[in-house]
Amino acid sequence: EKGTYPHYMLKEIDEQPLVMRKIIQQYQNENNELHIDESISQAMTEADRIYIVACGTSYHAGLVGKQFIEKWAKVPVEVHVASEFSYNMPLLSEKPLFVFISQSGETADSRAVLVQVKELGYKALTITNVPGSTLSREADYTLLLHAGPEIAVASTKAYTAQIAVLSILAAVTAKTRGVELSFDLVQELAIVGSAMEALCDDKETMEAIAREYLSTTRNAFFIGRAVDFYVGLEGALKLKEISYIQAEGFAGGELKHGTIALIENNTPVIALATQEHVNLGIRGNVKEVAARGANPCIISMKGLETEEDRYVLPPVHEDLSPLVAVIPLQLISYYAALHRDCDVDKPRNLAKSVTVE
Ligand code: F6R
Repeated sequence: EKGTYPHYMLKEIDEQPLVMRKIIQQYQNENNELHIDESISQAMTEADRIYIVACGTSYHAGLVGKQFIEKWAKVPVEVHVASEFSYNMPLLSEKPLFVFISQSGETADSRAVLVQVKELGYKALTITNVPGSTLSREADYTLLLHAGPEIAVASTKAYTAQIAVLSILAAVTAKTRGVELSFDLVQELAIVGSAMEALCDDKETMEAIAREYLSTTRNAFFIGRAVDFYVGLEGALKLKEISYIQAEGFAGGELKHGTIALIENNTPVIALATQEHVNLGIRGNVKEVAARGANPCIISMKGLETEEDRYVLPPVHEDLSPLVAVIPLQLISYYAALHRDCDVDKPRNLAKSVTVE
């Protein structure tokens, strides 16, 4: 039930702080330590390479998850779009482990790959919101998102839940492999929950940004470097699927290799700046597009902000910034769609779960 909310999407965006708390609770043992089924951390530890396979928003969550697993647990990870993987399989390592990410657990493209890799005799883990779903039943292991039903076609709380569960998977794998993390993930995820709450309480600002940048534009660009690039891809997907604005996400440094030709007077360029090591670089890219007439909207993390920024995110652990940076992008997309009279919960040409290949 959407209760007093005008749309499921807005309700589901607002549920994200609660989902963070739920996930922390579900993945803690009685000693308040992060915990996943031992067979899963064992499989993660025995693998010499992890292959993440997913579609759409779940693929974007996988890109963020790769960072956690490589940086924290020191296991190499590849992330693949399911529809490509099935006929364009990469050369596999000796001991691969497959991780399927799927909110619905029913996506046909992902299932086709699962069937294929099971036939080859490999082990698979499914990360899904739906217990008993096809991808959960057919994999060897399952991790649940505990996000509650997601009704709106545009995925919001499943994305952040996927990232949170991937962070826990990475942290537990690190521990099993004897790598010590320099921070307490439970505490950092709790901080993320509070930051999400503050962002969800700031809807007027998000609506104003949507009005200012997106109410009449034909197109919009999202740029970022490092993990901000991946969050930008998700921001662009959200915007295009519900507002029908042509939106694309780019790595900041790639702009000058072609895309910058598309910048016209007033083209909105939403730039994410949440990562210290690329802060200067992305600000350089903003200058490049601004010099060609773009209307830049910089969203930065507290501590990295400058006076030109349109929005400053509450501070969280740098590695976990996608969990908060995506919230304004979800809300801006929501209001852009609303201002353009689009059907927010049921965008044209789309179905909630894609059960054909
Ligand atoms: C975007 C969206 C889709 C899904 C994709 C995968 O908002 O909802 O891109 O993320 O179809 O679906 P699942 O995660 O159910 O496999």
